[in-house]
Amino acid sequence: MNLNDEENRSLINLANEARRYAYAPYSNYQVGAALRTKSGRIFTGVNVESAAYPTTICAERVAIYKAVSEGEREFDVIAVVTENGGSPCGSCRQVMAEFGLKTRVLIADGRGNLLKEMTVAELLPEAFTPEKMNK
Ligand code: THU
Repeated sequence: MNLNDEENRSLINLANEARRYAYAPYSNYQVGAALRTKSGRIFTGVNVESAAYPTTICAERVAIYKAVSEGEREFDVIAVVTENGGSPCGSCRQVMAEFGLKTRVLIADGRGNLLKEMTVAELLPEAFTPEKMNK
């Protein structure tokens, strides 16, 4: 295992451990995310549901918003863990794209198995990004 593999593994473990804090009484689908910034900081996130369903927020966005709210905008990799290895929703893909198409995305299951690795560009082809706002 090279350093990158070890770093990926530890990020997946952090995302998986974070799942215990998921607040998902309605779906019972616990999601954990762990985001590593280019500066090396790590932010975790979990899904937080609400009785008013649409106000639920996903784990990936919680991790990204925590990072942005602490001054971090450049991301290296985000690990997303669900029991069955589900992939990020469209809204989360869009928010990931806002901060860079090159960010790597690791998708893992509840046993910590890395199922897929890709970039945000691959996850959201033809993304609408901040650059597209330039007239
Ligand atoms: N969820 C996430 O946290 N991330 C995703 O990318 C997919 C969906 C959450 C939202 C909701 O709490 C539950 O999973 C079921 O949709």
